[in-house]
Amino acid sequence: MAEVVIVSDASVAGGVVADEIVRVVRSRPDAVLGLATGSTPLPVYEALRPRLGGVDVSRMRGFALDEYVGLDPSHPQSYRSVIAREVVEPLGLDPARIRTPDGSLEGIAHAGEDYEAAIEAAGGVDLQILGIGTDGHIGFNEPGSSFASLTRVKTLTRQTREDNARFFDRIDDVPMHCITQGLGTILRARHLVLLAFGAGKAEAVAGAVEGPVTASLPGSAIQLHPHVTVLVDEDAASGL
Ligand code: GLP
Repeated sequence: MAEVVIVSDASVAGGVVADEIVRVVRSRPDAVLGLATGSTPLPVYEALRPRLGGVDVSRMRGFALDEYVGLDPSHPQSYRSVIAREVVEPLGLDPARIRTPDGSLEGIAHAGEDYEAAIEAAGGVDLQILGIGTDGHIGFNEPGSSFASLTRVKTLTRQTREDNARFFDRIDDVPMHCITQGLGTILRARHLVLLAFGAGKAEAVAGAVEGPVTASLPGSAIQLHPHVTVLVDEDAASGL
């Protein structure tokens, strides 16, 4: 059963998670952080910045959950750019040690396998930050994803493309495909930290934490993991 912590707002949650990340990195300077994109984890990255003074982050490693397929890496909404802008640069991390899956059309045939091998070679993910989509997706594992799935290419649902259209000029600019760590990949991380804020996430959170474990709600996979922390505000917790 996941530990559920209800916090007053997202910035409190950000502080709690940032404290835990600092603890992990202090105990193991080459710790591996699982990074999420979207708006949800931003308070974590913001809270980390003032806390990292005096912490050696030069050996810290990170793996993003997912990437769009076919979006140039230099596009401001590629997750490679987002992670560089929101995590790597402000926190002073070594860009060579922070990876996103390769969403280029040239690399796609081996990208999943290569990413899995890189995570394994790094010793696995110590702490995986997760947001959740309104349809219950984690990473970009849309409903129907296998719990055993590894990093692979997926088709985005209309719902997710609509949700993410706010980052693009038009919905037609949102890529149709993505490459995402699988639910099986995510479940291998040693500690899962799922964050959700706002009433729009209430249904997904309730399903993930208390609903049946089902591929129809990929976030429910967290119930199969022995060490999960869920941080939610009152609104996101309202369906629990
Ligand atoms: C995106 C990401 C997910 C994220 C989710 C929620 O599509 N691929 O990793 O958790 O959707 O996004 P947000 O945090 O902006 O609500």
